[in-house]
Amino acid sequence: MAIQIQHQKVRKAVIPAAGLGTRFLPATKAIAKEMLPIVDKPTIQFIVEEALKSGIEDILIVTGKAKRPIEDHFDSNIELEMSLKEKGKDDLLKLVEETTDINLHFIRQSHPKGLGHAVLQAKAFIGDEPFVVMLGDDLMESEIPLTKQLINDYEKTHASTIAVMKVPHQEVDKYGVISPSGETEKGLYNVANFVEKPAIKDTPSDLAIIGRYLLTPEIFDILDTQQPGAGNEIQLTDAIERLNKTQRVFAREFIGRRYDVGDKFGFVETTIEYGLTHPQIKEALHDYIIKKAKELAATDKADKKTT
Ligand code: G1P
Repeated sequence: MAIQIQHQKVRKAVIPAAGLGTRFLPATKAIAKEMLPIVDKPTIQFIVEEALKSGIEDILIVTGKAKRPIEDHFDSNIELEMSLKEKGKDDLLKLVEETTDINLHFIRQSHPKGLGHAVLQAKAFIGDEPFVVMLGDDLMESEIPLTKQLINDYEKTHASTIAVMKVPHQEVDKYGVISPSGETEKGLYNVANFVEKPAIKDTPSDLAIIGRYLLTPEIFDILDTQQPGAGNEIQLTDAIERLNKTQRVFAREFIGRRYDVGDKFGFVETTIEYGLTHPQIKEALHDYIIKKAKELAATDKADKKTT
């Protein structure tokens, strides 16, 4: 009799949010960088929304120092809700209530030793199930949410799948990079190696890991013994490289728009793009950008004349 292996549904997500946010100091001295808003929504809420849209049922946020506001953001705020109700501000009340009805769990990573170490904190929460890891610095825009795309791949392959995207060659040393070894189907690569932050001259490709991972639970036994790598941190990429030696790990190329809100310029860019779709400010922002662009073009022209 043939044995039928039951593959589990992907139900859980881990969002590491214990980083110190040094790139945004002094703003992040007392506030979690995940709470910095894009217009009016904290960046972490975009990630949680992507998880929910992808069918995730339980989310674990790995937090650290100065991260209490994240917990408060997703908790109910009775005083605020009552006051909005009294004033008849139903639209605002809806926005506030929307963030409270989610199965969120928190765990603290007392010693931030790297991304691999942060994910290891989720071992008991995940148990023996496949799961996704979603990094807060990468906001993704695509018709099918990227996390959902990885889940769709898993349903076909039952293997770990890491999202990658082509990045400019001179930036590969900021990322984990894959060495692809052929496509199984369009955009789904077999991978020979995963390398964290390669030197530009040594990079195996320009396909960089972009902050969405679907992993099988075997990653935890590997993380348990993972030694520090690049930057003297316990790297998730190094553990995935080892996982790929014992079971297949695929890479899914993301076609869509990625916003790097962990970078100052990326943050401003995201703010402008989101602002241009925001019902309350999109027209005013549009007019402002056009006015500003004209001013800048005129100054550039004047500068050129004097030089
Ligand atoms: C982390 C990962 C790296 C990945 C990147 C994506 O790096 O270690 O592999 O490419 O996120 O944003 P970090 O940005 O934390 O240095």
